[in-house]
Amino acid sequence: MGKKKTILDLQRMKDAGEKIAVLTAYDYPFARLMDDEGIDVILVGDSVGSVVSGYDNTLPVTMDEMVYHTRAVVRGVASAMVVADMPFLSYQVDLAEARRNAGRLIKEGGAQAVKLEGGTNMAETIRALVDIDIPVVGHIGLTPQSVHRMGGYKVQGRQEAQAEQLLADARAVEQAGACAIVLEAIPASLASRITRELSIPTIGIGAGPDCDGQVLVIHDILGLCEKYSPKFVKRYADAAGVIRGGIRDYIDEVKKGAFPTEEHSFK
Ligand code: KIV
Repeated sequence: MGKKKTILDLQRMKDAGEKIAVLTAYDYPFARLMDDEGIDVILVGDSVGSVVSGYDNTLPVTMDEMVYHTRAVVRGVASAMVVADMPFLSYQVDLAEARRNAGRLIKEGGAQAVKLEGGTNMAETIRALVDIDIPVVGHIGLTPQSVHRMGGYKVQGRQEAQAEQLLADARAVEQAGACAIVLEAIPASLASRITRELSIPTIGIGAGPDCDGQVLVIHDILGLCEKYSPKFVKRYADAAGVIRGGIRDYIDEVKKGAFPTEEHSFK
């Protein structure tokens, strides 16, 4: 069991050119497994709304749900750093509310940092949290909480003006005091440029190979989401197939009277 990783480890890894591996988790068993296997950072993403709660997007996720999932994840972790997402409308209204809600993820959830979406428009909010010693991870590019503004989940920053805005956003997030930044669904060349310009670590998702780290949703990489899968997802296992097989075998054995046998019964 190693020492718990912190924002200092992330910075050290960037400075040493060591890649940072990040996955999402929403509960104790997944957190334990990925922590045991050596994941650097666990993100309790508001993607919980889509992959666990079955919503169409992340917008309905509440603060209470994020606190609940963060606590479950933290209980399963010995070494990884835990970052919790601030859900939609928990930080956009005013700075006091943003501070109170970020504080809940740290105090009640046990996270070491919070993540919020936005660039230049969120610089003041990031600064307000950093000022009360809450480490913040920024998130720019395809920001899922802005799905209605973007008109869907689309690659961002393909046009020159958009790319310049994203570069300005990345700089603003760093200057506001963020400890790292997620770059989602932007051209690899732009992510590469941002990674070279910033001194804080960049964590890519659909942002090419040059980011300082990578993040993916655990349900996506294990093949648990059988619906649409974005181009940037690589499937490392067919967990849905394994689960379906186990469920089918159980049903079959119960129906045939093959389970339980003496082995699973008491004398
Ligand atoms: O909510 C989430 O899981 C995320 C990552 C995929 C970056 O924000």
